[in-house]
Order: sequence, then structure tokens, then C-alpha cells
Amino acid sequence: MPPTMNPKAPFGSLLTDKMAVAEYRDGAWGEFDVRVTGPLEMHPAIHALHYGSSCFEGFKAYRHADGQVRIFRLDRHVARMQQSAQALVLPVPDGPQLTAMVRTLVDRCREDVPEPPGALYLRPLLFGTMENIGAAATPSTDALLIVLASPVWDYFAGGMKPLKILVDEKSQRCAPHLGVVKTGGNYAAAMGPTLAAKKQYGVDQVLFCPGGEVQETGAANFLLIRKGQVLTRSLDSTFLHGVTRDSLLTLARDMGYQVEERVFGVPEMLEWARTGEAALSGTAAVLAGVGTLVHEGVAYKVGDGDVGPETRRLRAALVAIQGGQAADRYGWLTTA
Ligand SMILES: Cc1ncc(COP(=O)(O)O)c(C=O)c1O
Repeated sequence: MPPTMNPKAPFGSLLTDKMAVAEYRDGAWGEFDVRVTGPLEMHPAIHALHYGSSCFEGFKAYRHADGQVRIFRLDRHVARMQQSAQALVLPVPDGPQLTAMVRTLVDRCREDVPEPPGALYLRPLLFGTMENIGAAATPSTDALLIVLASPVWDYFAGGMKPLKILVDEKSQRCAPHLGVVKTGGNYAAAMGPTLAAKKQYGVDQVLFCPGGEVQETGAANFLLIRKGQVLTRSLDSTFLHGVTRDSLLTLARDMGYQVEERVFGVPEMLEWARTGEAALSGTAAVLAGVGTLVHEGVAYKVGDGDVGPETRRLRAALVAIQGGQAADRYGWLTTA
């Protein structure tokens, strides 16, 4: 077993010993290289450290039974990274180059891809490296693009425990125009309210519902599910357009569910939760069932309080495609 393999390691805590790096300087991206994962030397005046010019991505590569390693929806993640860079006025990664960086890194880390339900989690990171502490309103002319890889194992190794979620109508996860951007500052912004809620209510996460409209949690999209039906917020700038969300909705439509994407409020969600299911979607867990919603100090059980059958069914359908047990009928997988 390679040194990076430790199935007990918490998600994201282990990295492979290789990373891919490209630098943007003098108006152009340089060639990337693959080097030993380790500290970078950088000036304390770089733009990202002061003005938050950084964004990242997260997705997985899976080891399939035929021995190949395949990356899930690489094109969508590259496009979302480019969109994040654009929103933050950072040098936009070149699509083919970032794709090549990911594929090369996965190829070089082949040995480190765990067996399903494990995967190799991939984390491209882009940040502004211009050295100037007077650049609050000036974009970074220089940037570094790095792809890290992290072997991850079964997210639900301890069983699929239903989540307890605080419904928060007062806080915002982040600035409304940046919800769609995968930037570090959004996670920093959600940290305070999330830790406070964990402490006060013993919840796992906060479901941000500013103005009473159901949005998303700190790191996952939110879906209401019941037999033959899925309801989730329609896409706008206020929340991250999850690739898992999109994949689940595509699958659900094909499986005969009626999928509704629209704005909905807290009362409708609580009504749905009386007999239906609720779940969080994202790369890490794919789909995690919500068992309890805490609203204004009152705990509401979602369905019978356990992970629901429709949630399990949808999750299993997507996991089967990712792991290569079901046909890749939407062309979602890229061989590394
Ligand atoms: C804020 C937020 N929402 C939603 C998601 C789910 O996105 P995806 O399904 O692309 O992983 C994530 C995770 O990346 C996230 O950080």
C-alpha cells in the first residue's frame, strides 16, 4: 500500500506526494509541471493573502473494475473554475491546460486511487500572487494554479446517519452575488454562523434561508425529495451550482421523477418534511439524508427521521455511474 493510503484518514487530510503547478505571469500561462507536494515560497504581500483573490474546485476520480481511473464531470468543474476566476477578476485558467493538469496528475497518482467507494479527490486552487498591498481595487496580474490530489474513502463508513440542520432565516452564507463562486471567503463567511449553530443547537450544518427563501448549506446544495418528486431552488447567483445537484436532477428526470427548480420558502419546506425527505448534495457525500430541521428553536422530524428510501435510491443511481457499475450514458466520465 502506498504511504498515502490510510483508509481511516479524515476526508481531505491526506495528499498524494505529487501536485501539478502552473504560473500566470506577463499576461500568459506558463507550462505546467508536476512536482513534489510541499510548501511554496511566497511573499507576504501577495494579493490573495490580503484581498481574498482565490478560488478552488473539488471533484473525484474513481478506480473502475476494468483497471481504468475515470474522472467525474471534469468539463463542468473546469468550466466552474473558469467562471469563479472570472468573477474574482483573476487570470482565467486555460481550459485545455487545466484539463491536462488534472489528467496528468491522476495518471501520475494512479497507485493512490482507492477502490470504490473510495476515490481520488481533486482540488484545483487558483490564487493571485501579485505583490502589492495597495491593490484592494486592482486585480492581481499574476497567479498560481495548483492541482492537489487527496485519496478519500467511504464517506459513510460509520453508516448513513441522518443529519440535523438549523434553518437560519437571518444569516447569509456569503454576499449574494458571490454564492455562485467557489471562493475561500464564502466558507470563512459561513464558518461563524455554522459554529455558533453547532454549539447552540447541536446541529451538523446550517441551511441558509435569507429572507425566508431556502438556499443551501455551507458546503452542499439542498433537495426536497419524495416518491416521484424532487424540489430544489432554481439557479441564481446566490448559491453554488453543484455538479452533483445537476447530475442528480438529470438522473431523477430520467428515472421518472417530476423535478421542480424554483424558489420556495421555509413553510413549504417544513410542510414537505412532514411526510417527505430532505437531503444535501455535493461531491464529498453525493447525497446525505436530513433527519431533523431545527427552526426557531423547534425540532421538526423529516419523514420518520431516518435517511429516506428515495434519497437512498437516487444516491445509489449516481454512485453506480461514478463507480462504473452502471453505464456512463451521459458521457460524464473522462478516462485519465
Ligand atoms: C457551497 C457549496 N454548495 C454546493 C456544493 C456542492 O457542489 P458539487 O456538487 O459541485 O460538489 C459545494 C461543494 O462543492 C459547496 O461548497
